[in-house]
Amino acid sequence: MTDKADKGPRGIARGLTNYGDPAFAKYLRRSFAKSMGYSDAMLDRPVVGIAYTHSGFNNCHRHFPELLLAVKRGVLAGGALPLEFPTISLGEVFLSPTSLKFRNLMALDTEEMIRAQPMDSVVLMGGCDKTVPAQLMAAASANIPSISLVGGPMSTSRHRGERLGACTDCRRFWGRYRANDISEEEINLVEGRLSTTTGSCAVMGTASTMACLTEALGMALPHSAAIPAVHADRLRCAEESGFRAAQLIGTDLTPSKIITEKSIENAIRVLMAISGSTNAVIHLTAVARRAGIKIDLKKFNELSDTTPVLVNLKPVGSHYMEDLFAAGGLDAVMREIKPLLHLDAMTVTGETLGEWLAKPPADPVDRTVVKSREDPIEPEGGLVALFGSLAPGGAILKRSAADSRLFEHTGRAVVFNSLEDLSSRIDADDLDVKADDILVLQNAGPASDSAMPEAGYLPIPKKLARAGIKDMIRISDARMSGTAYGAVILHVTPDAATGGPLGLVETGDRIRLSVKDKSIDLLVDEATLAKRRAALPKPPVTARRGYDRLYHSHILQADEGCDFDFC
Ligand code: FES
Repeated sequence: MTDKADKGPRGIARGLTNYGDPAFAKYLRRSFAKSMGYSDAMLDRPVVGIAYTHSGFNNCHRHFPELLLAVKRGVLAGGALPLEFPTISLGEVFLSPTSLKFRNLMALDTEEMIRAQPMDSVVLMGGCDKTVPAQLMAAASANIPSISLVGGPMSTSRHRGERLGACTDCRRFWGRYRANDISEEEINLVEGRLSTTTGSCAVMGTASTMACLTEALGMALPHSAAIPAVHADRLRCAEESGFRAAQLIGTDLTPSKIITEKSIENAIRVLMAISGSTNAVIHLTAVARRAGIKIDLKKFNELSDTTPVLVNLKPVGSHYMEDLFAAGGLDAVMREIKPLLHLDAMTVTGETLGEWLAKPPADPVDRTVVKSREDPIEPEGGLVALFGSLAPGGAILKRSAADSRLFEHTGRAVVFNSLEDLSSRIDADDLDVKADDILVLQNAGPASDSAMPEAGYLPIPKKLARAGIKDMIRISDARMSGTAYGAVILHVTPDAATGGPLGLVETGDRIRLSVKDKSIDLLVDEATLAKRRAALPKPPVTARRGYDRLYHSHILQADEGCDFDFC
C-alpha cells in the first residue's frame, strides 16, 4: 500500500502552534528543537512519535529504556526522526481502585498527544495489561499510521524444583496458604520468586492475550506477541517496528484500514483458540467501538462454538508464554485456524494476513504447547457469553477454566452486597454457605465506586477451602484477572449500580446456570423483583471531582467495552 494519503506538511512542520503567524511558529519550533541538539538534516526528516510508557510504577516496563533505543535505531534506519513522548503508564498492581478505571484516561492522553504533537506515524510501546488496549483505542481514534510494540512476557523462575510464573502461580500458592497447606515462611519465599524478570505476566493473562490479539488484528509485526521481554529477538522486533513505522509515513495504511470487522473477527477467533482472558472481551469491544464496529455477543458465541482451544498455557493448561514462543508463537496458532480466518484482512506490514501465513514457518511446532485442529484441547472456544433474566445484556464465563461439573447447575444464592461486605464475611466461621451454593457479589461493576475491579474471582470461603472445595459458581458484575480460573461468571450487564437485576438478588434465591443453553437466570418472579426494586435505597449522592467525575458521568457498560460515551 503506497498511496500518499497524507499530503500535508511533514515532520515538525505539522500541526503548528497557533500564534496567528505560521511562519513564526515554524521558526520558533525549529529554534527550540535545535536546543535539543538536532541538526537541520534531522529536523527536515519526517517524525515517528514513540508513545513511551516507562514508569517507576510499572515493573512490566522495566526494560523499556533499552527497547526504546532499539526502536529509535529502526526509525533512523528508515530515514525518519524518532521522538518519544511520555504518556500515562498503567502498572496493573500499583493502581487503586483498579487499572481499568484509568484505561480510558490513558487512551485519551495517548490519542490527544498523537494528535497534538507533530508526528507522521507512531510506535505504541505498551505491555502491562491495560496499556495495550488503551493504546489501540487511541490509535483507532487518532487514525494516523500506527504500529504496536509490546514489551513481551516475563520469564519463569524456580521454587523448590517447580517452575513459577506470574500470576497463575501467585493465586495457586495464595490458595494453598489460605487453606493452611503452606506456611507463612514459604509464602514469603514464593513472594520473591514469582516475578523475577521484566515483562508482562508470564501466562496467558490479559497482557499476553492482548499482545496476541494485537498481532492477530494486524497492528503488530508477525511473530512478535510471544517473544520474551528479555530475549534479543525482542530488541530486534523493536528495531523492525521502528523501521516499519518510518516506512508507514505518508501511506494510507492507518488503523481504520487494519481494525475492521474482519480483523476483529480474526482476533475473536484467536482469543478462543488461545483460551485468552475474559478482560480481552471488554478491551476488544472498546477497540472495535473506536473503529465504529459493534461486537455482538451472540456472534461472539457463534465464533466460540466453532473455534477449538489449541494453546496449552496457564491458567487453563500447564505452560508459559516463553514456551509458546519456543513452540512457534502465535503464528503457529494462526496457521492451525487459518481456514477460520479472514485472510484478506490487511496488516501493518502492508501484506494481508493470508500473505503472512503463506510464508513457511521457521520451525516445526511443539505440539505439547500448540495442538493441531485435529487434536484440540477443547473442541470449542474458551469463552462463552451467557444471557438471561440475571444478565439481560450478557455475562461472560471462561468455560475452559471452570469445573465442567458446575456447567448445568441450580443453586442457592449467597449474596455479598459490596466488596467490603465480601471481605468482612467470606471467611467467617458462621457464614451459612455450602459447596453447591452460588456466591454472588453486587456493586462491583463499571458504574460502581470500585469501577469494576478484578474481584469476580471470589475466594472460596475459608471453611470450604479447608474442606477441599476447589471451585464454586461465583457471579458478579466485576472482572477477573486473566491469570485466574474457576466457574466465575463476570461482567453481568447491566451492573447492579445502574439498576441491573444482579442488584436485586437476595441470599436464598435460586439461580440457574446452563452453559449448554448459554443462560443465567434468577428464579424469582417478576412481582417480587418489582417490590425489591421499589424498596431499593436511593444511592447516596457522592461529591465527585476531576477524573473520578468524568469517569462516573460517562462510563458505559461492559457490553460497550466500558469506554466513555463521548469517545
Ligand atoms: Fe503487568 Fe501482569 S502486572 S501484565
